[in-house]
Amino acid sequence: MKKLFIKTFGCQMNVYDSARMSDALAGHGYTESGSAEDADVIILNTCHIREKAAEKVYSEIGRLRAIKERRARTGERIVIAVAGCVAQAEGAEIVRRAPAVDLVFGPQTYHRLPDLIEKIRQDRSAIVDTEFPPESKFDHLAPPGRAQTRDRGPSAFVTVQEGCDKFCTFCVVPYTRGVEASRPADAIRAEVERLAADGVREIMLLGQNVNAYHGTGDDGEWTLARLLRDLAGIEGIERLRYTTSHPRDMDDELIAVHGDLDQLMPYLHLPVQSGSDRILKKMNRGHHPGDYLEIIGRLRDARPDIALSGDFIVGFPGESDADFEATMALVRDVNYAQAYSFKYSPRPGTPAAGRDNQVPDEVKAARLAALQDLLNVQQLSFNDACIGRTLEVLLERPGRKPGQLLGRSPYLQAVHVDDCEHHLGEIVRVEIVAAHANSLSGRIAGTHHKSLFQHELGVRI
Ligand code: 5AD
Ligand code: SF4
Repeated sequence: MKKLFIKTFGCQMNVYDSARMSDALAGHGYTESGSAEDADVIILNTCHIREKAAEKVYSEIGRLRAIKERRARTGERIVIAVAGCVAQAEGAEIVRRAPAVDLVFGPQTYHRLPDLIEKIRQDRSAIVDTEFPPESKFDHLAPPGRAQTRDRGPSAFVTVQEGCDKFCTFCVVPYTRGVEASRPADAIRAEVERLAADGVREIMLLGQNVNAYHGTGDDGEWTLARLLRDLAGIEGIERLRYTTSHPRDMDDELIAVHGDLDQLMPYLHLPVQSGSDRILKKMNRGHHPGDYLEIIGRLRDARPDIALSGDFIVGFPGESDADFEATMALVRDVNYAQAYSFKYSPRPGTPAAGRDNQVPDEVKAARLAALQDLLNVQQLSFNDACIGRTLEVLLERPGRKPGQLLGRSPYLQAVHVDDCEHHLGEIVRVEIVAAHANSLSGRIAGTHHKSLFQHELGVRI
């Protein structure tokens, strides 16, 4: 057996892609190793969305080069590969700057990985493969039931859509991940059925623009709402989630599903980026702040307890104090359960990067601090309001203390539960006794029912 080490940066899509790379190589005699030191193949699966991503990758490669040189002294030849969005954006530049790298491949080509590595082993020259191939990589995923090498626990990601046609002026995704493409509904269903049979209880559907999903179904094109309704019928699947969505694709049918489907968890990550109409226009977002608030209102009508999350960018070129205040006002209006916020970071090749009205870093830093203070207060008060409530928690993995498990509430909060290790993989009722900035603590108030995952445990652990 050869050893594989994958280090993943960035979004959940990359986590999913890393698992698929591992699956692709498992069929060729590779097992995953927890460390780079003894690996035969090392893959850095990179992210390019914000600041200094490429620099981080280069310094990581520096560390790996030392390992490669040390191993070469004992006659071993390891392969270092750079995958993901930095690979797509930088291409051959990576091999020029860091000759220790043997392989550079973009997010579109990971199914070719076993062949590429074999070629490198034979020819010993570096390969750069960042083409957007005409065929979809979805066609090459390991069929359901084959190598499932990662111990994924009772919650699993499933990519349903990839790429983006929206071209927000700050964002690299349309360039690194390419045009929007959806996976056929029957392939998704087969993967989810397989996961359910493996004991998975919760599915997170992934896509850069997941609510733009439009894959082929048995009777024409399916929307995300249709797909969710279908997947909810699969035995064993008790929880469904999806991320990340764009306000423009939040249609009536999808909003209605939030009211109708018990399996669809009451949590939605719906980025708005800014509360200023002027800035949204410069960002090419294609919606107004009012549209966003109206969608939130309709979601809350459909599912009154829905918890909301978002993404915000401060210091976009030309953002004035008044624009920033509009963002603060929108945040107060929505009242988020959780959110992510970032300083604008010029991404090479995107339209906003070249604009001459860039905001000074100290202004960005001050705005980010003010926004994060407000978001933290909202998050803590959302968590505080859970004290005394009994929430259903899917217990996903061991916690730090002996006997403790870590799980997720319906609102995606992390929940620590003591003295419950034999309930791993189950959904249990938990009485919340304490709230913290980023998590809750609780004790078991009752079990939901036995899960299939329990049966699997004997085999897995
Ligand atoms: N600068 C800062 N934040 C960005 N994001 C995307 N591109 C940039 C950028 N150039 C943020 C957006 C997006 C999230 C995934 O990352 O908020 O929703
Ligand atoms: Fe990037 Fe905008 Fe597409 Fe989201 S919708 S991936 S922010 S271009």
